[in-house]
Amino acid sequence: METSLKKQYKIREASEEDLLTVMNINRICLPENYSYVFFETVLRSYPKSFLVAEVNERIAGYIMCRVERALSRFHRFKLCRVGHVISIAVLPEYRRAGIATALMEKAMEALKNVYGCSEIFLEVRVSNTPAINLYEKLGFIKIERIKNYYLDGEDAYLMARELI
Ligand code: ACO
Ligand code: ZN
Repeated sequence: METSLKKQYKIREASEEDLLTVMNINRICLPENYSYVFFETVLRSYPKSFLVAEVNERIAGYIMCRVERALSRFHRFKLCRVGHVISIAVLPEYRRAGIATALMEKAMEALKNVYGCSEIFLEVRVSNTPAINLYEKLGFIKIERIKNYYLDGEDAYLMARELI
């Protein structure tokens, strides 16, 4: 697709009608898949940080997050609300147009301003250079390497940043 066309995307909150499409994008893009009920529960619990990107009325990508209470990764002994990016993906034909960046930025805004999170974190395969680059560009740092995190045995990086 021509770059100028895929740049015309719109980010909006997901609705339950979007969930089958979101599940389909998740299956196309990632080996980590979830049940309908899981997607639905995340959407009902944290609707402001479950977003889709639309290009010409077609959903091109999504991000889903939840909020957890955890020890800060940046300030010792501090308990805080942290946003957890469960999953983000953009269909192959819409990549490299800034869509994932826009999804992450809007989700981070909601996690901070609506859900009161002071940090955000996620896990990513150590081999997933595109995603690691995306997160580093957004200011995330690698906090630790989690051995054997994925079902096929691959390690994950836990990456995080403060929301300030
Ligand atoms: N190679 C190297 N760097 C890349 C690549 C790539 N193929 N794709 C993105 N990046 C980096 C670049 O730094 C890029 O900036 P630039 O284009 O100015 O160089 C930056 O990320 C931002 O790129 P976007 O256009 O915003 O990202 P895109 O919309 O293409 O989506 C994503 C990136 C989500 C990683 C996409 O490639 C994808 O869906 N991959 C498969 C699913 C996946 O891996 N999801 C993340 C799993 S981890 C998790 O969900 C918590
Ligand atoms: Zn996770």
